[in-house]
Amino acid sequence: MGSLSFEKDFEPSAVTPRGLAPPGLIANGDFGEMKRLKVATPTAPRKNLNVAVTEPGSRNNGPSLDCILMNYIDTLSQRINYHIGYPVNICYEHYASLAPLLQFHLNNCGDPFLQNTVDFHSKDFEVAVLNWFADLWEIEKDQYWGYVTNGGTEGNLHGILVGRELLPTGILYASKDSHYSVAKAAMMYRMDFEMVNTSVHGEMDYSDLKAKLLQNKGKPAIINVTIGTTFKGAVDDLDIILQTLKDCGYTYDQFYIHCDAALNGLIIPFIKNMISFKKPIGSVTISGHKFLGCPMPCGIQITRKSYINNLSRKVEYIASVDATISGSRNGLAPIFLWYSLSSKGQIGLQKDVKRCLDNAKYLKDRLQQAGVSVMLNELSIIVVLERPRDHEFVRRWQLSCVRDMAHVIVMPGITREILDSFINDLLQQRKKWYKDGNVTPPCVAEDIGAQNCACSYHKIDFIIP
Ligand SMILES: Cc1ncc(COP(=O)(O)O)c(C=O)c1O
Repeated sequence: MGSLSFEKDFEPSAVTPRGLAPPGLIANGDFGEMKRLKVATPTAPRKNLNVAVTEPGSRNNGPSLDCILMNYIDTLSQRINYHIGYPVNICYEHYASLAPLLQFHLNNCGDPFLQNTVDFHSKDFEVAVLNWFADLWEIEKDQYWGYVTNGGTEGNLHGILVGRELLPTGILYASKDSHYSVAKAAMMYRMDFEMVNTSVHGEMDYSDLKAKLLQNKGKPAIINVTIGTTFKGAVDDLDIILQTLKDCGYTYDQFYIHCDAALNGLIIPFIKNMISFKKPIGSVTISGHKFLGCPMPCGIQITRKSYINNLSRKVEYIASVDATISGSRNGLAPIFLWYSLSSKGQIGLQKDVKRCLDNAKYLKDRLQQAGVSVMLNELSIIVVLERPRDHEFVRRWQLSCVRDMAHVIVMPGITREILDSFINDLLQQRKKWYKDGNVTPPCVAEDIGAQNCACSYHKIDFIIP
């Protein structure tokens, strides 16, 4: 694994906070396998620390700043084995090597490909990261434009804006299961918006798309394709969508496709690559802190260079051209992304993908065998299950719940040990919740399909492998 080299007279220890290493994480040198603190009994959800800003002279009787921070780090470390409900990869050891960078304010405002008059940026790293993704999504270096965003949401806002600028009268189409940032974009840009139905698995309903495209035939289409929906991990089929546009008589100049691949953008290419700029798509975005992992929220947005002129504005103040959404942009994030990509490489990522898919299947099979309603989509690491009855349990495992469903996202840091501990806890609690038969597990047939529902009514259709 590479490490940054510094000038001789620079001492990293001088800027590394004394003793603030997270006690819960012990790096063992293997990027994907961070050893975790063994926690015998479930730790309680964290409480508000009631932190206040205090004047330096008034702290005589209270804890020191380091003490408050240590307490905070300790609290987070204890909860790390229970972080299974949201898509963040916390397996990285960047913090040790990259912490010295925190002494600089690194700001990448403006265009990543243009230098401005300030040296404190990391655009060199940013372009390296963008080139890597351009290769992955099959677009030549001189044909693309992109930038490191603040996250998937900003990527969606940007991609849809590029589409809107190219096709100002276009209608935005997105499925019911697409991320809420897509509807937010429609609202911000005051675009006409068509919500397309989804299957029980969460995938776009292509016949509904077709009906809506035909109904709006006079107007261009801007389509948000979700490559891995937020809750169910369903993948909209880009090729079917392109065929549907063709069948409805939309020519290339009458549609724009934005691919929201927030989580699956680094999974799909290693299984069945459908994301490619060789196809008539306009933009692709992912979240950098999701599958790859980064301590701060960030993302990558790539579009065609020929499309970006519509958005670019010369800004004299920053001596640059700007086509991004934000003004100041985090200059640390590209370095963290570059470090992860260079350390893992395609082979490391491929290994992560395989391990996550295997672990997701393991979780699904074990829950299914135990009679719990559960669904796992193809190409997905999101295991959707019946909503646990008890809020305390939901909080303990930091689960996201929608209607009667919850999900576990089997990210690279989620080990079998953590999954076993979750399964055992769930099965024990279920015995208590449903012991006298007065209350029964929820029916989730409408949300995940009768064949995946183990409620008392649908048990008969429930398929145990
Ligand atoms: C499909 C999808 N798109 C976009 C986003 C937003 O990403 P971010 O949280 O990085 O803004 C998410 C987040 O979960 C997502 O699942």
